[in-house]
Amino acid sequence: MLVSAKDMLNKAKAGKYAVGQFNINNLEWTKAVLLTAQENNSPVILGVSEGAGKYMGGYKTIVGMVNGLMEELKITVPVALHLDHGSFEGAHKCIEAGFSSVMFDGSHYPIAENIEKTKSLVETCGKLGLSLEAEVGSIGGEEDGVVGAGECADPDECKAIADLGVTMLAAGIGNIHGKYPANWAGLSFDTLAAVSEKTGDMPLVLHGGTGIPEDMIKKAISLGVAKINVNTECQLSFAEATRKYIESGKDLEGKGFDPRKLLAPGFEAIKATVKEKMELFGSVNQA
Ligand code: 13P
Repeated sequence: MLVSAKDMLNKAKAGKYAVGQFNINNLEWTKAVLLTAQENNSPVILGVSEGAGKYMGGYKTIVGMVNGLMEELKITVPVALHLDHGSFEGAHKCIEAGFSSVMFDGSHYPIAENIEKTKSLVETCGKLGLSLEAEVGSIGGEEDGVVGAGECADPDECKAIADLGVTMLAAGIGNIHGKYPANWAGLSFDTLAAVSEKTGDMPLVLHGGTGIPEDMIKKAISLGVAKINVNTECQLSFAEATRKYIESGKDLEGKGFDPRKLLAPGFEAIKATVKEKMELFGSVNQA
């Protein structure tokens, strides 16, 4: 059964480790993440962006797929199904479809509007026992080939949003989605320390987990990060393994075109990436 991310994240914050959020894109991805979590006795969060939601045939399809896989594969570790960077409308659609957790990303609104919309979702999620992630300070990333720098959140604004009663808070600390540019300044640990100080026990979320050096990940966890999102790294390992398989020319003329064979190396590559991250984040054997 899907669970809210609340208990797993409070436990992670207290135990100084982080739970990984791995974004899913299809059945293979989902199965790879679920099996790896089970094999490593780790709690896990399955992230679904609005775009991936559309791609997979809608939120209800995803809820059905995840619940079915969990039952058939006998997954017993805690699993939360979470909307990633949701709009206000998207969050409501996911709640209706049966997600156990949602993110409302109001970071692009003026702070008063972010507070107002987040507050209304705190009430809705609270009544239903679902977890809610809010965001302050936008996370940079590549758009049309231009890599935007990640903003640093205002710690007082973080406190205002945390005090609304959200489950977890994503604060921009110079992190960006996708690959980091060569001239990236690194994470702002001063910002993270100030946000942590103002928000106390609130589990903090680090987006853009791909390509952050291991020492920075460990330092971020020591300063209160309890959830780390990884998307691009799984995509890269999946693409690389698939490319190698195709380039090897492996009996594509014979049975190699069978999607179950074609997608197998990518599936194994995602499993390896997820395991590596769970070990780095310290969530192994914390289920
Ligand atoms: P990456 O794609 O950089 O791993 O970031 C994932 C993320 O933060 C999803 O919200």
